[in-house]
Amino acid sequence: MDKLLFCGENLTIMTDLIENGYENKFKLIYFDGPFNSGRIFAIETPELGVNLIQSTNELETMNQYLNPSLYVDEYKKRFLLAKKLLREDGVLVVQNSNKEVHAIKIALDEAFGRKNFLNEYIWKFANESSSLDHTEYNHHNHEAILFYRNTFTEVKKKININHTVWDDVGMYEELFLENTNYPSQKPEKLIRRILEMTANKGDLIGDFYCGSGTTVVVAEKLGLNWVASDINLQAVSLTKSRLSNAGVEVEVIFLETDDIAVIKVPVIDKNGISTTMTTEIEKPKIVEIDGEIKLIVSNPFEWILHNIQHVEKKDEEYIFDWTNICKKIDYIIKKIGDDWIIRIEDNGNHRLAHDIFGHPYKLMKSSGYEIQNGSPLELRVESSP
Ligand SMILES: C[S@@+](CC[C@H](N)C(=O)[O-])C[C@H]1O[C@@H](n2cnc3c(N)ncnc32)[C@H](O)[C@@H]1O
Repeated sequence: MDKLLFCGENLTIMTDLIENGYENKFKLIYFDGPFNSGRIFAIETPELGVNLIQSTNELETMNQYLNPSLYVDEYKKRFLLAKKLLREDGVLVVQNSNKEVHAIKIALDEAFGRKNFLNEYIWKFANESSSLDHTEYNHHNHEAILFYRNTFTEVKKKININHTVWDDVGMYEELFLENTNYPSQKPEKLIRRILEMTANKGDLIGDFYCGSGTTVVVAEKLGLNWVASDINLQAVSLTKSRLSNAGVEVEVIFLETDDIAVIKVPVIDKNGISTTMTTEIEKPKIVEIDGEIKLIVSNPFEWILHNIQHVEKKDEEYIFDWTNICKKIDYIIKKIGDDWIIRIEDNGNHRLAHDIFGHPYKLMKSSGYEIQNGSPLELRVESSP
């Protein structure tokens, strides 16, 4: 059974999967990635009074919003990787909003071939129209879901859905008990429909923008094999705990390895976030002193700075308030003291500690809790399905 949950950049994950025997293995790949609304996908933490997001992800969102062709180029790279991962009779399903779906469709036509477009379905996500930008015309209450087959072979629908406007699969406002408060979480009923249309029990499916993990939760219910990933540390923890609530225990595979001593980040100072200049910061180190596991953070201000939200989007602009950011960081430093670790998981031969931002630090048991070198990805993806 394949149940692989990755945390990291999906470009790297999909490339590694191709190199590790997963080419032509997927029956369905579902992309519910960013919609280029410019909204920062940060996670609220009422306890700390800040929203969490890694500065590299935040900058990427801003850059793509300010330069939309970058946004489409990034997707196109991933469409080409998805095409390699899909079986001949595989299907790629891409969800997007009214703002970018036309550009995304052109990129899909280029990557998959226009003749392989199967259909567009419309998901009604709310009763009332919403307006993301405060303009007269930008009211909408639907998202588009595009289906492409990999090759020009007949792809049978597994269930008979003949209507193209879906107002019968739940809405954002109807999540009720399913609601995890993860931004843009999809209803299980919507995902169930997509999976039932495209995959049979035992097939392998992939969701490389898994967010709160709705796809894998439904995949489990349908007896499908799955691979999922998200770049956001909190999203992956949420997916893991949703699976655990459903009685499925998985170990997250982190691309961020412990042997990395420095992390590349955008330059952030009183002038704002630089969109072009990057610098390197030291990654905290995990140590065990007298049986107690501690994180050594050499520069707490810097570490916090690169893990919290910095900008607010107001209409078409990003607002940056350095004084407020500094105040928040000072507050966090006082509040946590040197208690950076929030959770330690026992995973058999090693322990995994997570800091308050979700960053993982691996401690090997057999070697006296020494930090393990090497990529966990290589270790895990050793057998092909
Ligand atoms: C719209 S949300 C997905 C919601 C999900 N379908 C659900 O039901 O919860 C998009 C997700 O894509 C993730 N993401 C954005 N860029 C990514 C990348 N390059 N690699 C991996 N994940 C990415 C974000 O962190 C976010 O969780």
